[in-house]
Amino acid sequence: MTSLLDLHPTPTPIASAERDARLQSLGFGQLFTEHMVVIPYEEEFGWGRGALQPYAPLSLDPATSVLHYGQAIFEGFKAYRQPDGGIKTFRAERNAERFRASARRLAMAELPTDLFMASADALIRQDRAWVPSKPGESLYLRPFMIGTDAQLGVRPSKKYLYVLIASPSGNYFPSGVKPVTVWISEEYVRAAPGGTGAAKFAGNYAASHLAQANARAEGCDQVVWIDAVHRKYIEEMGGMNIMFAYQEGGRTVLVTPELTGTLLPGVTRESLLQLGRDFGWDTIERKITVDEWEADVRAGRMTEAFACGTAAVITPIGRVKSRHGEFAVNNGETGPVATKLRKALLDLQHGHAPDPHGWMHAVVDGHTAL
Ligand code: COI
Repeated sequence: MTSLLDLHPTPTPIASAERDARLQSLGFGQLFTEHMVVIPYEEEFGWGRGALQPYAPLSLDPATSVLHYGQAIFEGFKAYRQPDGGIKTFRAERNAERFRASARRLAMAELPTDLFMASADALIRQDRAWVPSKPGESLYLRPFMIGTDAQLGVRPSKKYLYVLIASPSGNYFPSGVKPVTVWISEEYVRAAPGGTGAAKFAGNYAASHLAQANARAEGCDQVVWIDAVHRKYIEEMGGMNIMFAYQEGGRTVLVTPELTGTLLPGVTRESLLQLGRDFGWDTIERKITVDEWEADVRAGRMTEAFACGTAAVITPIGRVKSRHGEFAVNNGETGPVATKLRKALLDLQHGHAPDPHGWMHAVVDGHTAL
């Protein structure tokens, strides 16, 4: 696989004592490893030869199209240290597929899955000493692609640059897995039918900051998005999917908003639904309104709500606020469904539990010297 890329590692690697010091207290996305992968594309020639090279700033012509018209997509997935010292990634090929779907939506070039996987394997192998090993820590991989034509006509770029960087990471939210308070955004929407909501498109995130600032001003941690048309169906929380746990006649039912085209099809979302089915729970993908959320909590049918995504895994929702009032979910505490799912997923990813669905991909075996 690595033969798809030229390898140009840094001639001046960081001393291991300095690296270990930097790995001591990890936040999210603050620290980066020593290398990156870049692969250029040109409409005329297709994907060019990629390279693994030292992590460094990109140099762009001021007329580069992404700076003006915003063709930028990204992905996020993780590599986990295993009990034997090896390293595995979790469902990276699903991210490769979604990256291609995002590219199609933004009229960008599609990166073949084998190149996506080869880029990750090469970077992880090269920077394997940067994969942390404490519980809950991982190497967060951030592939992204930008339009790089240097011209100002409004049309899809004819040149693209795919880049992969890696960040040793701990908890996404500084407070760890404490339940968050959410603000239902009625003023702003994240995505509309026919828009870019199902793509991991940089502009979706840029457009979310103002609503997130509003949520903060209302004393909340995160914004919850509702649909653009009916203004009542729950879509996502911040940049994460959302799930609800019901207890019905002694059975656990996991409910999550269906993928209508305006939601991001999350890999963690898909994986938790599978784990729920593995536990013998019912899983339902359907539309759910804010009013139902409140009524079902007050009636005691809905016992938990939580958000899920690659970066933060599972984030319980403890309180829900809007212009119309507020209510607590599970007395503002983390519940057993979120706890069980989070543990099951992390155990599988860290190699402490079997992998019945073949989700883990071995990148570095346990006997490879650092
Ligand atoms: C995730 O939940 O992994 C996300 O996509 C959030 C990310 C933009 C940090």
